[in-house]
Amino acid sequence: MCGIIGVTGTGPVTPRLIDSLKRLEYRGYDSAGVAALVDGVTERRRAQGKIRNLETVLAETPLNATVGIGHTRWATHGAPTTENAHPHKAGRVTLVHNGIIENFAELKAELAAEGHVFESQTDTEVVAHLLDRELAKSNDAIAAFKRVLDRLTGAYALAVLIDGEDEQILGARRGSPLVVGWGEDEMYLGSDALAVGPFTQQISYLEEGDYVVLNRAGARFFDSTGSEVERAVVQVSASSAMVEKGAYRHFMEKEIHEQPDSVQHTLSAYLDLVSGTARSQPVDFSKLDRVQIVACGTAFFAGQIGRYAFERLAGLPCDVEIASEFRYREPAVSPSTLAVAVSQSGETADTLACLTWCKAHGLKTAAIVNVHTSSMAREADVLWPTHAGPEIGVASTKAFTAQVAALLALAVAAGVARGRIDATREAELVKALFEAPRLISEALAMDADIRREVVELAKADDVLFLGRGAMYPLAMEGALKLKEISYIHAEGYAAGELKHGPIALIDEFTPTVALAPLDDVFEKTASNLQEVAARGGPVIMIAPAEAEAPHGASIRRIDAPDCHPLIAPLVYAVPMQLLAYYTAVQKGTDVDQPRNLAKSVTVE
Ligand code: G6P
Repeated sequence: MCGIIGVTGTGPVTPRLIDSLKRLEYRGYDSAGVAALVDGVTERRRAQGKIRNLETVLAETPLNATVGIGHTRWATHGAPTTENAHPHKAGRVTLVHNGIIENFAELKAELAAEGHVFESQTDTEVVAHLLDRELAKSNDAIAAFKRVLDRLTGAYALAVLIDGEDEQILGARRGSPLVVGWGEDEMYLGSDALAVGPFTQQISYLEEGDYVVLNRAGARFFDSTGSEVERAVVQVSASSAMVEKGAYRHFMEKEIHEQPDSVQHTLSAYLDLVSGTARSQPVDFSKLDRVQIVACGTAFFAGQIGRYAFERLAGLPCDVEIASEFRYREPAVSPSTLAVAVSQSGETADTLACLTWCKAHGLKTAAIVNVHTSSMAREADVLWPTHAGPEIGVASTKAFTAQVAALLALAVAAGVARGRIDATREAELVKALFEAPRLISEALAMDADIRREVVELAKADDVLFLGRGAMYPLAMEGALKLKEISYIHAEGYAAGELKHGPIALIDEFTPTVALAPLDDVFEKTASNLQEVAARGGPVIMIAPAEAEAPHGASIRRIDAPDCHPLIAPLVYAVPMQLLAYYTAVQKGTDVDQPRNLAKSVTVE
């Protein structure tokens, strides 16, 4: 979750870039940099660590310019060094980037074969070289930029300066957010409303796949097909931009859409794509004989998904228990158990009490928490942070997928440490995990199909959610989401358990939502759905378009992106969340503050 700012105007640009970068510090970063057009040629200043280090560099070697870009970096590709800090430069092109260029290795090999020499280990530098190469073919910067965007795979946001193209900044968004700020004879580009908050409250949000050209007089927007489009200008209050809904109707909707970014940010804390490795952890997984996860609510389901990964990838036995039960049942624990508390807030009373209990019983403890200064973060021996940013909606969405991302990445690390995963498999799994932000973006595009389905769903009194493997806890989380915000009774079941009871509930008024990624149990899930359809129960089947559909007039399909089975819980979480969200909107309930619920439960 890097921060991006761009300014094109008439006043000194570097103080503005620094002012904005300081406001992006909340995103967490390891280095920062700025670039500005000085007499038509871009110059850069970069520094490791805090923004004040960059300020020191700028004080020693000032940049006097009116057009520039800035960046706070959170390392995904390559170590947090000055060489790897943004902006990156190749020939006439200088740019900053948030996100992942998944196909950077192929592109880098292609460019290297043509003689391009790289200064950094980043995926970002590849984009600069590509654009410089395209500019050499024709001097139409916008067309060249579009050709480059068409070659990139991944989820990203970009801000670009080109030598000789005075006053101009190019921007693009796919998966990672980007906004345009409108000023007086000055224009801004930022990774969120907060980035441009010091200068303007007039914002246009780029839509998925959009790119934009700014100069101080205004902005031209283009959609992913290259057609010039209009994007509305909205008013955002600067002081509260961080907790503003922006273009969204509810915080929950905004937080659902932040997931490509929050998952990427979290994965980057545990994995390195360049080396294809999991980062080393302050826990020796090879010495453990068990992991005991404790959590409440949504975090409990994240823990259950983690269990599948710990056992399958690392051969590490893993138990997951609701904290309020674990706490009072006098559990028998072995000393070589790692106790892991999973919590968004880090304050949930029952989960915290379990952590304290485990510590008191001599266990090593870890906390996967989103609030890094919370009680659990302080109490646990090891802090495993999630990087979802502040979550305002009471029904957890981005904190959940961040918890799942952290658990999956840690399971890979555990598998490596326990000798169950060799280097080739490690690289394959790391690559698969880093595909999640892009595929989450694709899942967000299921929006229209889901809205179509909720018209009927909102009329139901009871809904079943089915899944197998890691889709089983996700089915329970899907049911919880629907209950929490639409007040429709819903239950999640293991698809194979259907015939042992819940099938008695099936009738034409009880819809079943099935999560059916193309994994090793797809066929089995599909046959369970036929059992439902045969009894006249309406089925909403969420599966890749490639999946052979079971027959039955009552089965409706929603196409989901095909993905590696490891990341299916991250990708399929999105349609679950959207289904609950749009059903609640259809019913007119209070989405962000559902009745009787609290965001953080600090009582038993
Ligand atoms: C409350 C919230 C849930 C959340 C649970 C655990 O019940 O309403 O959304 O999942 O607490 O919260 P935590 O902060 O520990 O993840």
